[in-house]
Amino acid sequence: MIDVAFTAAEARPADLAVVIDVLRATSTATQALAAGYRAVICADSVERARRMRGPRRVLAGEERCRTPDGFDQGNSPGEAATVRGEELVLATTNGAPAIVTAAGTASTVVLACLLNLEAVLDELDAGCWDDLQIVCAGTNGAPALEDIYVAGRIAARLQGPRTDAALAAAAVARAYPTPLAALGENADARMLLAQGLERDILYCAQESTLAVVPRVTATGPGFAVVARELDPDASFSTMIAAVKATTA
Ligand code: MLT
Repeated sequence: MIDVAFTAAEARPADLAVVIDVLRATSTATQALAAGYRAVICADSVERARRMRGPRRVLAGEERCRTPDGFDQGNSPGEAATVRGEELVLATTNGAPAIVTAAGTASTVVLACLLNLEAVLDELDAGCWDDLQIVCAGTNGAPALEDIYVAGRIAARLQGPRTDAALAAAAVARAYPTPLAALGENADARMLLAQGLERDILYCAQESTLAVVPRVTATGPGFAVVARELDPDASFSTMIAAVKATTA
């Protein structure tokens, strides 16, 4: 079954969860891994991310779209394209917590955005799953049009039975002639525009420029480690270091 959760609160146990926060958390995480970061540690709060500060670790994220105090950079995929350390710690309002939530409910979790759309579809086409849930991060507990658009693009392309939510998402995707039309016309885009972050909307609207499918490779209290592939040793050491940092 192909299902869509319009908000992270609807995430449920599934074989596979595909988490989307196209403006901007999953775009930033995908770009960071494509650029060469070894892992992205998604934290469920800005406070937890601050406690994860460590050598070769870069703190990125946003509060109300702005870079939080003491962070090295914002939640901007353009900034994440420049590698400044080994691991990126990412704390955002909706996307990073949605990844942490999905990691606690689904067996396998991958991240999708427009930048890696074709790579995600290839991986889903090749994968073995019966029950797929596409989890839209949404915004402050409410559905976000741009996430539903990307969910609909994915749901429309996959083979298999679809829930009404998946059919509704596919109908939303069909309603927009271009990715930019969907990404530019929503409440999150208005917030980003108000902060002068139009370039991030344009960046996130690029389609299939990156061949990277980030996956959750380890989890700990309030965080999920995301990497390009399952590397048990690297994931384990990143997780242990993150647990130590948060509990110190
Ligand atoms: C979020 O997680 O809420 C978003 O990524 C917000 C943003 O990018 O400003």
